[in-house]
Amino acid sequence: MCGIIGVTGDGNALGVIFEGLRRLEYRGYDSAGVALVDGASLWRRRAADGTHSVDDLIGSADEVPEASRTGIGHTRWATHGGPTTENAHPHVDCSGQLALVHNGIIENHAELRGPLEERGHVFASQTDTEVLVHLLEEELAGGVGLAEGLRRALAGVRGAFSVVVLSADQPDVIVAARRSVPLLAAVGDGTGFVASDISALLGRADRFFAIEDDQVAAVGPGTLEVTTLAGEPVEPTSVVVDPGWDVEAAQKAGYDDFMTKEIHEQPRAVADTLLDRWGPGKDLVIDELRVPPEDLRAVDKVVVVACGSSYHAGMVAKYAIERWARLPTEVEIASELRYRDPVLHERTLVVGVSQSGETLDTLEALREARRSGAPTVIVSNVVHATMAREADGVLYTRAGPEVSVASTKCHVAQIVALDLLALVLAQWRGTMGPAAVAAEFDGLRRLPSLVDEALGRAKDVDAVAEALAGARDYFFLGRNIGYPVALEGALKLKEISYLRAEGYPAGELKHGPLALVEPGVVVVAVLDPLQDKMRSNIAEASARGATVVVVAADGEDVTGLSDHVLRVPRVDDPILAPVVTVVPLQLLAYALARRLGNDVDRPRNLAKTVTVE
Ligand code: F6R
Repeated sequence: MCGIIGVTGDGNALGVIFEGLRRLEYRGYDSAGVALVDGASLWRRRAADGTHSVDDLIGSADEVPEASRTGIGHTRWATHGGPTTENAHPHVDCSGQLALVHNGIIENHAELRGPLEERGHVFASQTDTEVLVHLLEEELAGGVGLAEGLRRALAGVRGAFSVVVLSADQPDVIVAARRSVPLLAAVGDGTGFVASDISALLGRADRFFAIEDDQVAAVGPGTLEVTTLAGEPVEPTSVVVDPGWDVEAAQKAGYDDFMTKEIHEQPRAVADTLLDRWGPGKDLVIDELRVPPEDLRAVDKVVVVACGSSYHAGMVAKYAIERWARLPTEVEIASELRYRDPVLHERTLVVGVSQSGETLDTLEALREARRSGAPTVIVSNVVHATMAREADGVLYTRAGPEVSVASTKCHVAQIVALDLLALVLAQWRGTMGPAAVAAEFDGLRRLPSLVDEALGRAKDVDAVAEALAGARDYFFLGRNIGYPVALEGALKLKEISYLRAEGYPAGELKHGPLALVEPGVVVVAVLDPLQDKMRSNIAEASARGATVVVVAADGEDVTGLSDHVLRVPRVDDPILAPVVTVVPLQLLAYALARRLGNDVDRPRNLAKTVTVE
C-alpha cells in the first residue's frame, strides 16, 4: 500500500525523499507527492500519472527551496478518492502551514469531516486522510507542540494508519504515529528519518527502530523520542537490518525488470531458506522458531492463514503437514478467518504466511489467534516486520527483497519454509523417523538445481506464449498438490497480463465450469505424476475444443494429450514438486504480459504490501 518517507536534518532532503519514493514505489503508484519546509512556509508538489507518478513528480520539481532540510513524501495506492492530483498526498491544512502523509484507512472519516466543515474547514480532496490534517490544525491552534497535537488529533480516530506530519512553524522536526500499518524510524549523524519500509532508508542511517501500534515518534536531526498515544515516554524498539538487504539487492542488476530478476533468483532463495537447518545432532533445527518442542508436540490442529500467493503456498503446506506430521490442517484466507468465530485454542498452531510480514488481513488474523490463546508462527521474508515481532515463533524465508508486485521468489521460498515446518513437526511428534526426515530434507536440497533447470527452459515457454497470443480466457487445472500450483499460475497471469484466468481443481471442471470451455479457451493443466485421473479431465476439455497446455515432468508420456507441453525436471517426491512446476507458469504469465506491453513490475490497480483490510 502507500509508501511514506520523512527526513529532517539533511541538506539534500528532497533528493533523499525522491530516492526513497523510487524505492517505495512498489507499494503504490497512483500518485506521488512531496512537501518541504521552505523558510516560514511549505513547498509542495504532487503528480498523478499512474505508474509514472514518481517520475512525473521528480520532473515537476522546479524552483526547489535550496535551504530545506526537512520534508515528507508519499506514493499512493488509492482507497478513498480517485487517483487524482487533488487526492494525492501530502494534504495541507487551511493555513497551508501543515502537511501530512498517511498510509491506511481512517474508518470514521465521514463522521469526522462533517463537524470540521461546520467549523469552517475547507476540504480540497475526497480522501479519508484529509480529516487528519484539519484535526491537527485545530489542536495546534491551542498552542501545543506538533507531537502533542498529533496525539490529541488521533484520539478520536478509528482505523489503521501510519501518518507523518510537518509544520512550517516547527521546521526541525517530523512527527509520525502508527496503528496497524508499518512505520520505521532511523537516526543518523545529525539526521532523522521515518519510512514505511526499510528499503527507503538503506544507506541513510545506522540505527533503525520499529514504531509500534499507538506510538508517536518525534524525529529531529539525530534524535528520536517515542511516546504512547497517551504521552508516556517509551524505549523505541531497535531493529537489526537483515545483512542480505542492501541497496544493491534492491536493484535490477541488468535485468529488464524486477520480476525476471526475482524469477531467476529462485534457486538462491530456496537454497538460502534451507541453509543451516540441519543440526549437528543430524536433525532439523530452526533457530528462530522460538516455540518450544513440547508446545508443538501438544498441538492437535494447524491453521494456516495468508492471502494471495502466500495463501497458495499455505495450500501446498496442507499436503506436507498432513502427510508428514499427521496433523489436521486447515488453510484459511486471512481476511475471512477474522470475521468468523473460528475455533482456535492453545492446541491449535496458527501459521501466518506473509512475504512482507505486514499484510493487514494476515496480521489481524494472527492477532485474533493470539487472543484465542493459540500459539502463532509467522513465515516472513522481512526480519523486522510487525508479524515477525508479534508472533510467538518465526520462520524466515531468505529470499532477499522482493520488489516486483507479483510474488515469485518469495512464493517458492515460502513453500520450502513451510515444508521445513512440516518436517520439524513430524520430527518432534515422532510421526517420521530420523531417516525419513533426512530423506525429505535431501529432497528439498535438490530443489535449487531443479528450479535452475526449469528456468533454463524459458525459451520453450516463450514459444508456447507466442502460439497462445490472442487468447483471452484461461483455465488452470490441477489435482492434489498440483491444484495450488494451478491457482498460483492463474493468479500470476491475471495480475500481470489482465487476462481472465481461473484456477480450478481439475475434477471439479465437469461440475459446472466445463460449460465455459469452447474453442479459443486455453486450458493449462499441471500434470501431477500421481494423477492419472488428470488425463481424463484434460481429455474432457480437449473434446470441447480447448487449446491445452500441459506442464509435465520429464519422461511423462503425454502423447496426444495436449497441443503444447511445458516440460519440467522430475522431482522424486511429488509433494516437493510445486516449487518446480510453478516455474513455467510464472514464465508463461511473464511472457504473455510482456507481449501485451504491460508493466510487469507494476500491474494496474495493485500494490505490494497490502496494509488495508
Ligand atoms: C501475488 C501477490 C499477492 C500477495 C498477497 C499477500 O503475486 O504478491 O497476492 O501474495 O498480497 O502478501 P504478503 O505475502 O506480503 O502477505
